Amino acid sequence: MNAKAAWPLAILLVTPFHPSLFSHDSCLSKAFYGNYQQGSTTLSVFRPDPACVDTWAYQTIAPSASITEATREVQQLVWLEEQAVDVSLKTQTRSFRNEFDAFLDAVSTHELSPSDGIPAQEVMGDSHYQAGYEVLYRTPQAALLSVSHEKARVIDTLVPRFWRSTLLPKEPIPFQSVAPSSLGHVEDVLANLKFDPVIASIVGNISVSQMRNDIRFLTGEDEKSGILSRHSFSKGAFTAASWLKARFEDTGATCDLKRFLIGFAPNVVCRYPSIVNTTATVLLSAHYDSRGSFGRTRAPGADDDGSGTVAILSIARTILRKGVKFRSNVELVAFAGEEQGLLGSRAYARELRAANANLTVMVQADMLAFREPGEPRQLGLPDMIGSPVVTQLVANVSAIYSPELRVGFTPACCSDHQSFHEQGFPATQVFERAGPIIDPMYHNSGK
Ligand SMILES: *[C@@H]1O[C@H](CO)[C@@H](O)[C@H](O)[C@H]1NC(C)=O
Ligand SMILES: *[C@@H]1O[C@H](CO)[C@@H](O)[C@H](O)[C@H]1NC(C)=O
Ligand SMILES: *[C@@H]1O[C@H](CO)[C@@H](O)[C@H](O)[C@H]1NC(C)=O
Ligand SMILES: *[C@@H]1O[C@H](CO)[C@@H](O)[C@H](O)[C@H]1NC(C)=O
Ligand SMILES: [Zn+2]
Repeated sequence: MNAKAAWPLAILLVTPFHPSLFSHDSCLSKAFYGNYQQGSTTLSVFRPDPACVDTWAYQTIAPSASITEATREVQQLVWLEEQAVDVSLKTQTRSFRNEFDAFLDAVSTHELSPSDGIPAQEVMGDSHYQAGYEVLYRTPQAALLSVSHEKARVIDTLVPRFWRSTLLPKEPIPFQSVAPSSLGHVEDVLANLKFDPVIASIVGNISVSQMRNDIRFLTGEDEKSGILSRHSFSKGAFTAASWLKARFEDTGATCDLKRFLIGFAPNVVCRYPSIVNTTATVLLSAHYDSRGSFGRTRAPGADDDGSGTVAILSIARTILRKGVKFRSNVELVAFAGEEQGLLGSRAYARELRAANANLTVMVQADMLAFREPGEPRQLGLPDMIGSPVVTQLVANVSAIYSPELRVGFTPACCSDHQSFHEQGFPATQVFERAGPIIDPMYHNSGK
């Protein structure tokens, strides 16, 4: 026995998100581990001490709140959720029970191979984790597990195809709501929005054939790139990061490869300075890491999210061709670690919050390339995570410069903009469809 194993090992509270949970006098606000989705419900996860549970429970008990005590020391908490995919994609999948149990079996039997990149001494600390996991919360659409550190490193490769896993932070994170004053700039821009022929000519200069070349490199369809996968721990992800940095720098940006966790490929953060003296910063981003499925290593990630990545790069290339200068600082960012739970963007959003950055708007592009045959061209905007006024601005900009797009909401959610939203920055997302995910190759090794 070790001293840390005193009872209780950890108390986990999972309850529907509500701002009152974070009021100043709430002991829960210091025990917050993030918001996660369960279908269309946002749930907040807390790890409170026993006294806090007692006080809180007397005040507000949501009927669906769940309190569990871990029976073993918690190394890494992992949230699992089923994603919003179209019913047509689900027809071949097995029932939830079989699928989820098969996943738990895979977690407990998964043998670490040297290619998992985990030092041997970490594996030895695992003796009290015979099964490798403990289930702390489970519904048909979501689950919270406690797993060993080494299983946590590979869990995203074991989850069922239409599920995603998120590694919870090691420490509680302060909850930061989006202050109404931080939306003032976007409100001004929206109120004064009108067609500008100069902007239209810049939009018209985006080169689709260049985007095709760029995606061929990132997916490895162009064999010269040598990229088989852009999974965050893979060699291909590091190749992609260096290549992206060089391509963005070709366009006049200044880029940093920013490491955020050992073993993960870095975020690629590129900046164009403002021509006027201002702290205002606009951030456009995508995630360049990818995820394969069913234990296969090939993970080309053309749509998810090679498409968003080359869209951001195509903006950079157009900035160069048209000689665009900005009256705001502009950052174009390619994140890694998205598929393990927004890890790269979470680190960068927290860094910008700590620096008191004046981020006036942030837009994440995740999956832009797939169109179901017969459906109109469309733009999906988030109905859950993000600031509605920012989403409205993107809808209106689209109506002006891309009137052919049918704009609507999508339940496909929770890409890197969530990290910024949760740090109180004005943020939204753009997606290929005004509905759930329907790309048949989603999280598949084929595309
Ligand atoms: C973009 O604009 C530049 C400069 O006006 C021009 O040389 C180039 O051909 C244009 N490219 C596209 C794809 O429109
Ligand atoms: C930019 O503005 C800040 C704040 O108004 C001021 O302190 C700083 O001197 C200015 N810098 C330049 C180069 O003008
Ligand atoms: C942030 O930038 C906006 C837009 O330029 C400006 O109106 C605002 O005063 C800035 N905020 C701070 C705290 O500098
Ligand atoms: C934005 O679009 C909405 C419709 O979606 C419209 O009612 C509104 O007038 C537009 N605002 C601007 C500033 O164009
Ligand atoms: Zn994605």
